[in-house]
Amino acid sequence: MGGSIRMKVLVTGGAGYIGSHTCVSLMSAGYEVAVLDNLSNGHFEAVLRAQQLSGHSLRFYNADLRDKADVEKVFYAFQPEAVIHFAALKSVEESIREPLLYYESNVAGSVILLQVMSEYKVKQLVFSSTANVYGHALDVPISEDSHIAPTNPYGRSKAMIEQILSDIVASEADWRVARLRYFNPMGAHPSGIIGEDPRGVPSNLPPYIAQVALGRRSQLQIFGGDYDTPDGTGVRDYIHVVDLAEGHVAALNYLTNNMGLVTANLGTGRGYSVLEMVKAFERVSGHPIPYRIVGRRSGDVAKSYAATNKAEKLFAWKARFGLDDMCRDAWRWQVMNPSGYSRNN
Ligand code: NAD
Ligand code: WQD
Repeated sequence: MGGSIRMKVLVTGGAGYIGSHTCVSLMSAGYEVAVLDNLSNGHFEAVLRAQQLSGHSLRFYNADLRDKADVEKVFYAFQPEAVIHFAALKSVEESIREPLLYYESNVAGSVILLQVMSEYKVKQLVFSSTANVYGHALDVPISEDSHIAPTNPYGRSKAMIEQILSDIVASEADWRVARLRYFNPMGAHPSGIIGEDPRGVPSNLPPYIAQVALGRRSQLQIFGGDYDTPDGTGVRDYIHVVDLAEGHVAALNYLTNNMGLVTANLGTGRGYSVLEMVKAFERVSGHPIPYRIVGRRSGDVAKSYAATNKAEKLFAWKARFGLDDMCRDAWRWQVMNPSGYSRNN
């Protein structure tokens, strides 16, 4: 690990999908970890299993970022040296219906976190941003200096936080901040012990396909078969969640050695269509995925995939897993945990 031994890292949203995988990577890399999560969408069981997988223990604080006194208590008790900030609401569709909830949770919650970090002189932060901030980017692969033009309240909440972070770094030179723009996370830890457990009907493609393969849902609806792509269906840059988790450890190490602001995409640089994803999942699971092509989903773009050279160069990190690995691990998790983290599996 580059930097001090057993650096203390607070992971907000560490009971969630990407956060729980990142906790495993951090603990395996020798960091001392605490999780702050209100369990609104995360699972305490995920935290327990992250400890089991890494063979290390972590501290868990059930706290809400929007409650400053709560956040201060966590900082007082744990005394973190750096923060990885995942906690947020993430549904595009819900954000259109309830914009204030998104601005409160994501923007106001982040402002409170940053205030408390400032009070405690904790100035090292890795922030979860999203490729959603690029909106309808004109060119693929999408590079970090593409125009920022999100088209929905979720994406705008992330773009606002990105702006706040750049203003903070401009105001005080000793901050160390990484803004990481993830493309489409999928898959699960190869052990099948932790994975993605969305509440209700999944809106993202990979968990939906996995539930169709398992027979929990009868059919996939493919949103649009007339895009300007090789087979007419939408193309995305899917990235294995373990690659993403390792990317956070690499970014944290980079910040330990570098001050200022860095912004980087986390993706593989390779796009796959919905139909390619369906075929790969059928191959890996051995189950048919019945589907029907329906109309386009409003707000979707034809193609989105990342320029990856910046993260690779700066963080000395590169995604290792391919599409079949992602499908294999998503499937293993689904088969081992047909009802997700709930106890009545
Ligand atoms: P997730 O919902 O599984 O994890 C988020 C965690 O934050 C949950 O455990 C939830 O309980 C917690 N949380 C939410 N609001 C909170 C609050 N006010 N106080 C304390 N805890 C709170 O989501 P995820 O997929 O792991 O995403 C993690 C981050 O990555 C989010 O910031 C998301 O916007 C971003 N992101 C996700 C994706 C994706 O497709 N999964 C893509 C790009 C960016
Ligand atoms: C992928 C492809 C759909 C579901 C969203 C957010 C983004 C990020 C990741 C948080 C598209 C198609 C999907 C289905 C389908 N999250 N699809 N049938 O829209 O690229 O990105 O999640 O930051 O911000 O916008 O991901 O998984 O919803 O869709 O045909 O039932 O699958 O049209 O082409 P998306 P997705």
